[in-house]
Amino acid sequence: MIFIMAAGGGAGRGTVESLLRQGVPAQEIAGGARNPSKLDWMVAAGAHAHMADYEDPASMVEVFRDIDTLVLIPTMSAPEARCMEHRNALLAAKSAGVRRVVFLSIQSGGNESRFLMTPFFVFAEDATQRSGMKWTIARMSLYADPLADWLPDLVRMGRLPYPVRNGRVAYVSKADVSNALAATVRRSDLDGEILEFTGPASLSMTEVAAEISIAAGVTIPFASITDKEYGDICRAEGCNEGMITGMTSLYHAVEAQEFARATSDVEQLTGTKPESVSEAILRLRRDR
Ligand SMILES: NC(=O)c1ccc[n+]([C@@H]2O[C@H](COP(=O)([O-])OP(=O)(O)OC[C@H]3O[C@@H](n4cnc5c(N)ncnc54)[C@H](OP(=O)(O)O)[C@@H]3O)[C@@H](O)[C@H]2O)c1
Repeated sequence: MIFIMAAGGGAGRGTVESLLRQGVPAQEIAGGARNPSKLDWMVAAGAHAHMADYEDPASMVEVFRDIDTLVLIPTMSAPEARCMEHRNALLAAKSAGVRRVVFLSIQSGGNESRFLMTPFFVFAEDATQRSGMKWTIARMSLYADPLADWLPDLVRMGRLPYPVRNGRVAYVSKADVSNALAATVRRSDLDGEILEFTGPASLSMTEVAAEISIAAGVTIPFASITDKEYGDICRAEGCNEGMITGMTSLYHAVEAQEFARATSDVEQLTGTKPESVSEAILRLRRDR
């Protein structure tokens, strides 16, 4: 039995749907959420849905029994809280007899990272490797999907404004991450492996702007801006100061090339080339 934590979120649902598409029988798939009614779609598909709260170890021990492979998709909590959530899940899994953990992590500069969320991923990867269970870690690059949400604003502004000069990113779509994560779960030969889920190419911001321009049908050039200008844009879009600090640190990490590496892992796992930024944006906007 495969169990997916945070199955009601974007990455969790995508992974469950991909497992089903890849032919895993629904009765061999279970999902956990704080409110299992958010997983009614899983029950309708013939899979199992449980209450499983990262903050409540007992809720996890109970539903992790008879689970072979546990997929840990982190929440969006602050780093300290996320560390406790991950620790709770690993302890619960170990005591329930789970054999293998697959952890969805992120590319980063490790202990030298400029991104404020990275300490969680460093802790969680280390704790996963020391858990005493078999493990596979899948590090993703940045999602391309938010660029699709941002497209109308980019067209309005007439530029792609980021506080970046030379940083490159191998943007990957959430759909490709979910498909590759599902394929990883199905593989029995990836114990102790650290995979990297990226898009097909490592792009400069000028190249990202060119991809966005293809999807938009108008030219949207890249504009390298200051941290302050970026903060002002985020504030005007309704972000709070904590979000702005976190996002600015993310682009400092981009500048430090923490998300620059492109790999062939998605294609090797899924048999399909990952989407380019323009392909992902066009699909996401078409499917709305
Ligand atoms: N690569 C990137 O660019 C990028 C960007 C953003 C995020 N991420 C990563 O992507 C992952 C999540 O993405 P997503 O799209 O799936 O996010 P999402 O759609 O916001 O889903 C987060 C899920 O976490 C669940 N959750 C929150 N607290 C929980 C708890 N205590 N116990 C159990 N479940 C809990 C939420 O359930 P409820 O419905 O109960 O709230 C929700 O289903 C995170 O690991 C984050 O680090 C990556």
